[in-house]
Amino acid sequence: MGINDSNITNPKVLKFLNGFYRPVTEELGELRLKAEEARVPVILRDTENVLRSLLLIARPLRILEIGTAVGYSASFFAEVCGPDSKVVSLELKEETAATARENIRRLGYESQITVITGDAAQTAAEQQGPFDLVFIDAAKSHYLEYWNAVICKVVSGGLIICDNILMSGRTVSDEYDPGRKYRTNIRKMNEFLSFISETEDADTSFISAGDGMSVSIIRNNKNGNKSMETV
Ligand SMILES: C[S@@+](CC[C@H](N)C(=O)[O-])C[C@H]1O[C@@H](n2cnc3c(N)ncnc32)[C@H](O)[C@@H]1O
Repeated sequence: MGINDSNITNPKVLKFLNGFYRPVTEELGELRLKAEEARVPVILRDTENVLRSLLLIARPLRILEIGTAVGYSASFFAEVCGPDSKVVSLELKEETAATARENIRRLGYESQITVITGDAAQTAAEQQGPFDLVFIDAAKSHYLEYWNAVICKVVSGGLIICDNILMSGRTVSDEYDPGRKYRTNIRKMNEFLSFISETEDADTSFISAGDGMSVSIIRNNKNGNKSMETV
């Protein structure tokens, strides 16, 4: 997705706010531009700004990312959360993961980030945790599976943040899906949003920045997750 075509924010407002965007490092700025030129999906600029604030408040050190692409957001997490932070990032495609590993090495985050290939519905379940933050940014129709795979691994008070929950407006209205091509994804995303807004395991809010984000603060839940104090 380009930087202005998410259908979520008034384009004039988006242009104005994006005028304040500054990359966290010059190298990350270059990687973003390269990815945008190649139309490789990376977190949008306004998404990044919200994430940065959340990271600086929550200060997560153990991060699980679902959906690596070229390693942009994984590197961003490693940079913003500092040298003591560790990121495990899950990617389906071997070739994409190889590009991500190369970018991560070039940017100097290889001691902080591990990229694991495979279907995240399985690889997420295989991760041991605990995690302070899980960032979900992979197949839109599988968010509930990812959530179920990780919920017991997130510490109480930790976060699960999901990107692209509004799917360029399609989640909100069929008018953004004239050919009904995304009908199944739309239904599944709506089911997922209903689920996370009602579950007793988390307090969730929705943010209409970027392509839409959900921010869930995990409660000390019945799934056996550990409290922040015990890990
Ligand atoms: C939106 S991109 C991730 C962007 C990345 N988080 C960033 O901002 O730099 C989504 C990625 O998820 C990967 N993906 C899709 N389905 C997946 C699955 N089932 N398991 C793991 N990764 C998957 C895609 O190959 C793609 O690279």
